[in-house]
Amino acid sequence: MLHGKRILLIIGGGIAAYKSLLLIRLLRGAGAAVTPVMTRAAGEFVTPLSVAALAGEKVYDALFDLTDEAEMGHIQLSRVADLIVVAPATANLMAQAATGQARDLATTLLLATDTPVLMAPAMNVRMWQHPATQRNLATLRADGVDFVGPDDGDMACGEFGPGRLAEPEDILAAITARLADGPLRGRHVIVTSGPTHEPIDPVRYIANRSSGAQGTAIARALVGLGARVTFVTGPADVPPPDSVALVRVQTARQMHDAVMQALPADACVMAAAVADWHVANAGTQKIKKTKDGLPTLAFAENPDILAAVSVQGPQRPRLVVGFAAETQDVLANATAKRARKGCDWIVANDVSDGTGIMGGTENAVTLITETGTEAWPRMDKAAVARRLAQKLAGALA
Ligand code: C5P
Repeated sequence: MLHGKRILLIIGGGIAAYKSLLLIRLLRGAGAAVTPVMTRAAGEFVTPLSVAALAGEKVYDALFDLTDEAEMGHIQLSRVADLIVVAPATANLMAQAATGQARDLATTLLLATDTPVLMAPAMNVRMWQHPATQRNLATLRADGVDFVGPDDGDMACGEFGPGRLAEPEDILAAITARLADGPLRGRHVIVTSGPTHEPIDPVRYIANRSSGAQGTAIARALVGLGARVTFVTGPADVPPPDSVALVRVQTARQMHDAVMQALPADACVMAAAVADWHVANAGTQKIKKTKDGLPTLAFAENPDILAAVSVQGPQRPRLVVGFAAETQDVLANATAKRARKGCDWIVANDVSDGTGIMGGTENAVTLITETGTEAWPRMDKAAVARRLAQKLAGALA
């Protein structure tokens, strides 16, 4: 995904600095080269040795290192990269960058560079909310700096709120979205995938046979075309793709909330096999076998995520794609589903016994659009995904 790309990673001094180690591993795994730069304070949280070992390159940490100045001056260092990533970006680093200070190698690089900069802030919630930091954020944004995070959550300092470093996977997704070339560059696509698990009690659940293979392949193909993908997945059998913003959920209701939170998006591809119902009287304790008879489960309807996203309004993605897994009258049912759900396209397939499609590696789909139907030959799920991603890119062009 990031082959041939070089990231200059500036690691600021904060408790979240340890997550930069994972980020380096993810970046290397995605094919990027990483030039690490550490502030003096970062060295209090992670060792240059671990950073260098994971990056496979030397760590730059001093401005007046004569050897480096001879080998590669700070101006050059700041310009050989395709992207400068600051993670964690502390309040102090943001303040210095916003006011154009050049006190050490990291801030000098930020001042000297003409390379795009992506910052992943991490700090105490009060520091983040302080008007000074918010001013600095606005200044940096106006200067063209991009941001990923911070997330909400429990913080190492014991407080709760915005200020947590974005997860390394999300930082990678943001980096990929900026660097990957392709027709979907700069586009945000939400993909749902996998089954949902609807609890009966804390140890039992209702599920379905979806493996998540098709949704995962679609997300991968979209990333391959340069899209920024939010991948909302139920408990799937296959591992999630790299370079996506990953949201793991269990139930349909959680999937609905995650999708709504991920909006706005340019397109939405709903490949998840969402349970239609959840157990309304799910036990809070494990339901016991008794002599008084069998338990009775009461069902309640789940939100229809596809229909909800398809509702006309300012948040509606330009293209909404649903799936129709049918076991009979595939075309008629899928065509009716397209109208009922209000989505733009339906990818219909026959999942009846004997097709080997549910959980298998191949798929035979018919694409139903406003203008008609297209039957695609049976092919690998990855090939279906690539064809759909190309078609989606065409529609958004
Ligand atoms: O209604 P049915 O489950 O057959 O529709 C399938 C399509 O609707 C799929 O794209 C699926 O992801 C989506 N769906 C949904 N939310 C539901 C049920 C289905 O998004 N509750």
